[in-house]
Amino acid sequence: MIDQALLNHAAGVLKTISADQRADTALRFYFETHRYLQPPARRVISHTVFVYFRWLQWLDEKASPQKRLEQAVTFHERFTADPKSIKPEALAALAVPAWLKTEMDIPADYLRQLQRDPTLWLRARPGRAAGLAKSLFAAETTPRAPDAVRFTGVSDLFKTEQFKTGEFEIQDLASQLVSVAAAPTPGETWWDACAGEGGKTLHLADLMMNKGVVWATDRNEKRIDTLKRRAGRAKLFNYRTAFWDGSARLPTKTKFDGILLDAPCSGIGTWQRNPHARWTTTPADVTELAATQLAMLNHLVGSLKPGGRLV
Ligand SMILES: C[S@@+](CC[C@H](N)C(=O)[O-])C[C@H]1O[C@@H](n2cnc3c(N)ncnc32)[C@H](O)[C@@H]1O
Repeated sequence: MIDQALLNHAAGVLKTISADQRADTALRFYFETHRYLQPPARRVISHTVFVYFRWLQWLDEKASPQKRLEQAVTFHERFTADPKSIKPEALAALAVPAWLKTEMDIPADYLRQLQRDPTLWLRARPGRAAGLAKSLFAAETTPRAPDAVRFTGVSDLFKTEQFKTGEFEIQDLASQLVSVAAAPTPGETWWDACAGEGGKTLHLADLMMNKGVVWATDRNEKRIDTLKRRAGRAKLFNYRTAFWDGSARLPTKTKFDGILLDAPCSGIGTWQRNPHARWTTTPADVTELAATQLAMLNHLVGSLKPGGRLV
């Protein structure tokens, strides 16, 4: 049972969520205006809001928001205790929007994974995962990625000395595997063409051991500012930033050993962590973004050196 006051807060957050206001952004704004809420309360409120969107299609439309939040938590607890308690047919019909099956196969394991609480993954500096896991206590390494650490604790990671000194970044396992697959080597020249806040730029630069250069471009300058702050914390200097909006007007004439195009996409891969997006993404988005991706690919492919790698 969740404390009624926390349920009321979660219902307050729901009121501010819309197609244009993502759940995580709404939560951030809500906590900025409710500063007295302590981290344990914030964790419960955030979790309840995400659980709500995960189980949205199971909830009684006529019930009050608080009742619906309670119903969602009950479904979540039942499912967590016994994932088989919810039939695969029910998951296929209700956990994702109906249009998804026109775009991809939807195996039962994938649906079950979507309904679970997501794992919090950290990326340690190359070769330092075991040491980081030990120093953070509630954390463990994994054979699935060389520098990944699964964090199981509840402490505020942003307040740790290890975070402040750039010993790790929060980055999903799948995202970490992208730069691992790109496999840049020290001294090469790479272009991270949709660098955003630099999750993958920093990883590429780190794998290159601060040697060579990663061009990091995006059309969103605020994101690039965040990238610079993160690079500063990690003491990575082998990168440079520029504006690129995906058009034929390229940011440089440089030819690259490798280009990573982490283009804007439907975000379906984030639906476990960000279940609200299941109900705001449309098939039209998928079509439109596919066209954007193809245009970007066509514009940048000529910047590869012969034999260069395009990821
Ligand atoms: C998937 S995110 C990149 C995430 C980033 N690579 C990371 O690992 O943190 C896609 C990025 O593409 C950028 N973007 C969206 N539309 C764009 C466009 N038409 N041209 C250039 N960048 C665009 C967005 O600003 C966003 O930062």
